[in-house]
Amino acid sequence: MRLQGKKALITGATSGIGQAIAEAFAREGAYVAVVGRNEQRGKQVVETIKIVGGSAVFFAAELTAKTDIDRLMKAVDETFGPVDILVNNAGIFPSGLTTQIDEATFDAVIATNLKAPFFLSAILLPQMAKRGSGKVINITSGAAFVGSPPMALYGSSKAALTLLTKAWAAEFGPNGVNVNAISPGPTSTPGTMDGKESLEQVVQTLPARRIAQATEIAGAAVYLASDEASYVHGTTIAVDGGGLAVVV
Ligand SMILES: NC(=O)c1ccc[n+]([C@@H]2O[C@H](COP(=O)([O-])OP(=O)(O)OC[C@H]3O[C@@H](n4cnc5c(N)ncnc54)[C@H](OP(=O)(O)O)[C@@H]3O)[C@@H](O)[C@H]2O)c1
Repeated sequence: MRLQGKKALITGATSGIGQAIAEAFAREGAYVAVVGRNEQRGKQVVETIKIVGGSAVFFAAELTAKTDIDRLMKAVDETFGPVDILVNNAGIFPSGLTTQIDEATFDAVIATNLKAPFFLSAILLPQMAKRGSGKVINITSGAAFVGSPPMALYGSSKAALTLLTKAWAAEFGPNGVNVNAISPGPTSTPGTMDGKESLEQVVQTLPARRIAQATEIAGAAVYLASDEASYVHGTTIAVDGGGLAVVV
């Protein structure tokens, strides 16, 4: 098992990609903190992990306010213990042209996709650095790398997270912490259920010609969380069916 004895905190683990990462980490021997808002789904994920012999615990948290992040991390500190692996996965992805985005949507996207990873990492990275080891994995998006009309706001939040991945690698890499990112392509999750038709169109342009399963994203997360990735710093692994490799 590649993550035996490690403690991993995964945000947005009550659904989709985060859930798949939580289950994959638990299969590799990690003790997993499943973080999300929906208590019922959170407890289900924990049960699913326990049924197959893994260990996990659910922490309910709304991550958009720093006070909530501080409350979460106090509870994690008291009942879970030192976090070896942080996966900043929770995210929202409303699409809309720049002229259609209202202030509330702007604030929600930035708070969820950028502010939450920033302050969670600001708490955990120094602790990891002090121990001389740790892994942070940011879940970004292909929208961080190319301009796409309905994705200006979402893409900019993920572009900022891509930059933070490099900045944190520079800041904490010398203390033994690996900070990296995964850029998923179109992936079948509860969050993309409504837009499945447009995803089906997008995938026709990909070398892979299909939507990803969340377990395929989780495989890269296991690699980045493991000792096998000990010399990998500040990079983004595109698990995107080849989307960023081709011009359409
Ligand atoms: N699916 C794709 O095609 C795709 C492609 C590229 C990148 N991504 C990125 O991958 C990540 C996961 O996407 P997904 O498709 O798995 O999404 P999803 O199924 O909609 O799940 C989103 C998760 O984020 C959590 N979350 C959202 N807002 C939150 C908040 N304010 N506080 C706490 N938790 C919050 C949700 O928690 P609750 O449900 O408990 O509220 C849920 O667990 C996102 O960062 C997304 O941008 C996805």
